[in-house]
Amino acid sequence: MSTKFTAVEIISAKRDKQELSDEQIDWTIDSYTKGLIADEQMSALLMAILLNGMNDRETFRWTDAMIASGEKMNWSILDRPTVDKHSTGGVGDKITLPLAPLVSACGGAVPQLSGRGLGHTGGTLDKLESISGWNANITNQQMLKVIQECGAVICAAGSGLAPADKKLYALRDVTGTVESIPLIASSIMSKKIAEGTGALVLDVKTGSGAFMSDPKKASLLAKTMVDLGNRAGVVTRALVTAMDVPLGLTVGNSLEVRETLEVLAGGGPSDVVELTLILANEMLTAAKIKPKMDPATALKNGAAMDVWRKMIKAQGGNNDAPLPVAKDKIEVKADSTGKLLSLDALKVGVSAWRLGAGRQKQGDLLQHGAGIEIHVKPGANVKVGQTILTLHTDDSSRFDRAKEALTGAFTIGTEDSEVNQLPLILERIEA
Ligand code: URA
Repeated sequence: MSTKFTAVEIISAKRDKQELSDEQIDWTIDSYTKGLIADEQMSALLMAILLNGMNDRETFRWTDAMIASGEKMNWSILDRPTVDKHSTGGVGDKITLPLAPLVSACGGAVPQLSGRGLGHTGGTLDKLESISGWNANITNQQMLKVIQECGAVICAAGSGLAPADKKLYALRDVTGTVESIPLIASSIMSKKIAEGTGALVLDVKTGSGAFMSDPKKASLLAKTMVDLGNRAGVVTRALVTAMDVPLGLTVGNSLEVRETLEVLAGGGPSDVVELTLILANEMLTAAKIKPKMDPATALKNGAAMDVWRKMIKAQGGNNDAPLPVAKDKIEVKADSTGKLLSLDALKVGVSAWRLGAGRQKQGDLLQHGAGIEIHVKPGANVKVGQTILTLHTDDSSRFDRAKEALTGAFTIGTEDSEVNQLPLILERIEA
């Protein structure tokens, strides 16, 4: 082992609120990736960083060192500019699904390396895996072939991409050190920069269903990531968007694919369509693409649907196979008449998770048909006995705990009451 530094002196420096030098950061990330720093030492350092922070220079260098731990992808062979979107995750957030084919239909190339869901927020790959035959795990060569043929590819990030982050994120998950802005920003951006996209639009969620529920912290995270991206030469923009209420009318894997197909067919819930179009326009302008057609037109005229079908087929998916449907369902009804004032994203997300839509730990199996259909969104009037939600699962013994999670999930007030809801877009950050 290189004896340039010792883990103990680096942990002690951060514990004592000192800045880490570039050399110390490079050595730490390299040694940890190679297994030369023990997990208990890295845990102590991560906790010291969580408590005492890192400045911009340290965060930038930490990100760079994580990128350098693995491969950097290169898309220069493509004849169109690359642009990607990353969401920090939320309940019912299926936007990547219609967005990638939409941006491709308008002239962009979208290399979307995605993850699986953990906890109450869903993962893009889990949603797509509800399509019969669809394969998330493809080689870099296959990825290139799909993006050349379809203009977009959604697949699992290979193990060669920022391996330092894989180890660090797993450790943070079990040591209470996820919630640090420099660590989150460097974790997300190391993967996105290594992915080699030319431009990037970040959708940073805030509200009860987001992991940054405080809008001020979400804004700071967004600014930190935009800064990291731009410094690395990736044109990066961020929107801070609402996640106090679930997005759209479905939460759960195959239910969300069904809603995606509605959006690609020119319909779908208005919030999903609005956010998809806003993000598509941001992506096209960030990548300086003169669109072949307006994104709203590409949803209406089937151009985005054509790319979707091609993209699904290219990864083995059967576009014509029926989507999985859960075996059992029950309805949750309004207990009074009035206006629906709120619908808590976190409670709906936890309930869908308990129904089987999500996993407790990495590697767990999930139910593709499980989840929640939302029949009414805040602002609408409801009558006593009207169905607000339908819960779906293959295992009816899950209903009790899922209903328990929904205690207080929605409120009904008089028809003249104000709805207390975040605006869909709270902030836009460019540089
Ligand atoms: N997602 C990531 O990839 N990393 C984090 O640290 C948090 C969310």
